[in-house]
Amino acid sequence: MATAKLSLSPAELPPLRQKSSLIEANTVRISRLQIIRQRKPLGVHCSVAPNQVESSAVRTPVLDSPKKTECYGVFCTTYDLRAEEETKSWKSIISIAVSGAAGMISNHLLFKLASGEVFGMDQPIALRLLGSERSRQALEGVAMELEDSLYPLLREVSIGIDPYEIYQDVEWALLIGAKPRGPGMERAALLDINGQIYAEQGKALNAVASQNVKVMVVGNPCNTNALICLKNAPNIPAKNFHALTRLDENRAKCQLALKAGVFYDKVSNVTIWGNHSTTQVPDFLNARINGRPVKEVIKDTKWLEEEFTERVQKRGGVLIQKWGRSSAASTAVSIVDAIRSLVTPTPEGDWFSTGVYTNGNPYGIADDIVFSMPCRSRGDGNYELVDNLQIDDFLRARLQKTEAELLAEKRCVAHLTGEGNAFCDLPEDTMLPGEQ
Ligand code: LMR
Repeated sequence: MATAKLSLSPAELPPLRQKSSLIEANTVRISRLQIIRQRKPLGVHCSVAPNQVESSAVRTPVLDSPKKTECYGVFCTTYDLRAEEETKSWKSIISIAVSGAAGMISNHLLFKLASGEVFGMDQPIALRLLGSERSRQALEGVAMELEDSLYPLLREVSIGIDPYEIYQDVEWALLIGAKPRGPGMERAALLDINGQIYAEQGKALNAVASQNVKVMVVGNPCNTNALICLKNAPNIPAKNFHALTRLDENRAKCQLALKAGVFYDKVSNVTIWGNHSTTQVPDFLNARINGRPVKEVIKDTKWLEEEFTERVQKRGGVLIQKWGRSSAASTAVSIVDAIRSLVTPTPEGDWFSTGVYTNGNPYGIADDIVFSMPCRSRGDGNYELVDNLQIDDFLRARLQKTEAELLAEKRCVAHLTGEGNAFCDLPEDTMLPGEQ
């Protein structure tokens, strides 16, 4: 998916199995208000605003007390927000980490998360925002805007540049930060640079996140980044890692609706198979319009096989040509859709697409890659694969192509997944949606 920029150049990237140099710097944590200028342990300590009365009942720190704290702006509180929740009919607070938090996608996403439209109006959240040294000021700006929005469900905002601090106990990690491909950069180099970033994210999540953390990888190339991340996080179930292909599903629904002359809520059962790249396969064979197979409604098979397929595959690139930058708002919306699909039960008979670990899949897709497939959820954050979709010769040939691309990407990052030396033989037409 579209990427938010990290400030690391290849030369600045940390050696594997070490914390990045970025993480040596101080972390700033704001709990609606505090800045902690101290490395671990993370803590919450509240100081007293001039017009507020201190009460012993509300002074108990939630976590270990840091040695030094500093209130942030006018928002210093005197009370423990977590304790206050006990008096409300809310669920327990959940912590959500977002990397690339000062980027465009995050700027759309964070406000949706804070509003309650993603996790529900009874679900208070803590946001943990990860940026880079260069984005530190911008992160503070993001935190200030979040505070100024006065979202009741937003109980804490922490900002920092150390994934080992930001990911502490998080239940969701939305990994948006990645380096965009620069002019003249080989795709193999992009895989390596972002792969190193995602290896680092995986290690940090493995070390400090909730062991059932759900990880949504957005930074490109998102399938292989998700694979690298999960390989570096052996304590977290591989099933918990997702590569975002929901934007592609949404794009496919829009194109089918346009062609059929219906509103897009009439289009269902759309699967995106494979890689979030120009080899992705938007499946019109199993999709439905008004509950009927698409091919019964749109009888123009040539359009479906050629124009529709290519339009979805290349939509990201066309958008970049028009906008001058990657999709951001629609990507954020699709992240919201992807999360909601996991935390609410899937409507009867329908499914959604997400890039998931392939081991044990019922479609004969090679094991040990991250491949977008049709999934259903009971709304508990987990999913199961939908296993009875029709595969015809056209679809099978396309699936093989996108699978081959992912296997080639995997060989290219073997040094980051613990599988020996990398060998890069990427197909020539391998491209991200934005690279045409
Ligand atoms: C998109 O699909 O819009 C993006 O992933 C495009 C890109 O390459 O950034």
